Amino acid sequence: MKFLKTIRVLMASADPEIRGYLLNILESDHDIDVIGEAGQAGELLEMMPTANPEILILDENLAEADSLSLAADLKLRYPPIQVILIAEQEDLKLFKRAMQSGVRQIILRSVEAGELLGSVKDIAEGYRRSVENLREQSEPGKDSAAPGKAQPQLKASQIITVFGNKGGIGKSLIACNLAVAAATRYKDQVALVDLDLQFGDISLMMNINPRKTIAELMQESGELTADLVDEYFYERSGVKVLAAPHKPELGELVTSFGAETVLKLCRKMYTYTFLDTPTFLDDTTLTALEMSDVVLLLISLDIPTIKNIKKGIDVLDSLKLLPRTKLILNRSSSLSVGLEPQDVEQVLGMKIAASIPSDFKMTVSSINRGMPFYNMSPKAPISRSIVELFDLIDKAK
Ligand SMILES: Nc1ncnc2c1ncn2[C@@H]1O[C@H](COP(=O)(O)OP(=O)(O)OP(=O)(O)O)[C@@H](O)[C@H]1O
Ligand SMILES: [Mg+2]
Repeated sequence: MKFLKTIRVLMASADPEIRGYLLNILESDHDIDVIGEAGQAGELLEMMPTANPEILILDENLAEADSLSLAADLKLRYPPIQVILIAEQEDLKLFKRAMQSGVRQIILRSVEAGELLGSVKDIAEGYRRSVENLREQSEPGKDSAAPGKAQPQLKASQIITVFGNKGGIGKSLIACNLAVAAATRYKDQVALVDLDLQFGDISLMMNINPRKTIAELMQESGELTADLVDEYFYERSGVKVLAAPHKPELGELVTSFGAETVLKLCRKMYTYTFLDTPTFLDDTTLTALEMSDVVLLLISLDIPTIKNIKKGIDVLDSLKLLPRTKLILNRSSSLSVGLEPQDVEQVLGMKIAASIPSDFKMTVSSINRGMPFYNMSPKAPISRSIVELFDLIDKAK
């Protein structure tokens, strides 16, 4: 997007070489104006009252100051300021401390131009929008449901969770393709949230290289609003995607309360929200299941899977979720070792609601290309089966 006004950036680093490197990148963009540079904390504090920056790029190496305490102090004195911390390397401890100090993002010293410029612009845009929102909300007669904003859906919206307590059963693949198929019918009204917080691969399957994930969203200070959450979604094939954290250890930043807040907002913003889940039942997955209107429980025709799924069904039963659960047979056309769908229905005590055939070639090339198979070949049997599955959900609504 083109900014009407330039983004005012102040930069502080003890290392002139780093300042030079960042300055070169920032000055290459006409939307950004570097209004000052500081080599020390004292210098920075002197500049602050007159510089009035929107974004402060603060190196953790600032001499005579702990940069994070300085960031926290500046946030208190100048609340609108958005701080980007420049670090040698990132780890969970630094990430947590930085977020507690009000830092919006950590960027490594080795950052490439595109990433730095993208982050500065994302943060500036978000910042300006939230200032705008605050202004509008404080005007008499205006409320957050004013026209032109993210509106609660008038139609009943649904959360659909793809679940299966057996690894590699096809959860992510089916979640992506269902969302894409749904978006052809419900344009701009479909979300896909990757709740496989440790090993989520939705961004890979949808060809997204996300700068912002659900982990960063959880670190937002203040109340989450629909407009703010919307900034964390990436659009692919008409689907709005919220990516899983970049690293497994960041998954723990997503609490069940946080996930619940995000899903409640998704319910307001989208007609359909599809959730991909991990194989195990952690707190967040349980919360997602409890909030779901439909749970798609994936099975395949092999004994270890059926044994596991039986346990999954017991959990869903104890959560009183069975009435909302549909049993979906994946890879239905694979050769089974003596197991027939009817046998499985009998063992599990549930009917199979829909089947997805096997298509090894299509699924592998779809994953390798980062393109849902529904887009590659909407008429293929596997794609048609996805549409039939979506029909089942959509018509029952
Ligand atoms: N219908 C199908 N036909 C052929 N291959 C399939 C089918 N469904 C899934 N697969 C293959 O199974 C593998 C696992 O799929 P996917 O990653 O979607 O499973 P998952 O349940 O999300 O796994 P994880 O538990 O690791 O998250 C993929 O390589 C995919 O190509
Ligand atoms: Mg998966």
